[in-house]
Amino acid sequence: MSWKVLITAPAMVKTGTAALELLQASRCIISCATESHSINADHLCELLRDQDAVIAALEPYSHSVLAAPQTTTLKLISRWGVGYDSVELPSATAAGILVTNTPAMLDEAVADYAFALLLALARRIPEGQQVLQTGRWPGVWGTDVAGKTLGLVGCGRIALAMARRGIGFNLRLLASDPQPSAAARQLGVTFASLDTVLAESDFISLHAALTPDSQGLIGEAQLRKMKRSALLVNVSRGALLDEQALVQALQENWIAGAALDVFSQEPLPRDHPFRTAPNLLLTPHQASFAHDTGARVSLAAAQTVLDVMNGQRPRFLLNPRVLASPNCRTIIHE
Ligand code: GLV
Repeated sequence: MSWKVLITAPAMVKTGTAALELLQASRCIISCATESHSINADHLCELLRDQDAVIAALEPYSHSVLAAPQTTTLKLISRWGVGYDSVELPSATAAGILVTNTPAMLDEAVADYAFALLLALARRIPEGQQVLQTGRWPGVWGTDVAGKTLGLVGCGRIALAMARRGIGFNLRLLASDPQPSAAARQLGVTFASLDTVLAESDFISLHAALTPDSQGLIGEAQLRKMKRSALLVNVSRGALLDEQALVQALQENWIAGAALDVFSQEPLPRDHPFRTAPNLLLTPHQASFAHDTGARVSLAAAQTVLDVMNGQRPRFLLNPRVLASPNCRTIIHE
């Protein structure tokens, strides 16, 4: 048996040579549509026509896509990465489609990046480069990092990796999370309410998953609770933040700065007010883009396709209930 596999995750092209070879060796027929950010629901339905599996970026697997007549052959959505807010899981389960992701493999790369943003923002590294690029010299003064308080909003695996980096900088570690973990406590993280974390932290890093409950978690009221000297980092999902409120917060100095790698609309629109807001460091959703990590994640996403194609239960199945459903579109030998 050979499957038709659509790839929309651009990272598979950049880092997935071994992963693509693995799929080809199993006679999978691969098609690539790696400009995934511009794929809307209609386009996605067309791309998915006759496909058995997709190695997916963040394009929208909404109910209308998953129930569309063009997508009836789809058996597996293998998410390249961790977050799966782009997939309507109940609709996938109802349609009999397996959904998987690749957790844990990119925690260190994302935490490296979040910490790098924190340091760059605090020590004003981009402004220093700009000074030299515009032919000037005097250096730019920033904020001390060592010994300050780092607040983690959401304290799962990536936040824990961030906390480990914080220990090296002698940071006091605070976190808010609906399910405080023993692992975090063992590292020295103190759990507190979101309000306390916002009020007491010098650096606030967002690591919550995007769910209906966490959407807009950081709005005007929360930004106003932060110290005026606070720096905010977001490598999770843009929609955790009220972006308009953040623009106002930066313009009116409610907080001292922010660094964002994620946005509620990606790519960030050309005329988005973020592009001209003060004290804002922006990067294009690249926190997990490190080559070794990318190769590992690509291999895992491809292996998932082969596992399901061969009737084996995939390692990171997000909707296990689908296996018991009479609608399940593939046979898994449990
Ligand atoms: C990236 O944002 C991911 O969820 O993997």
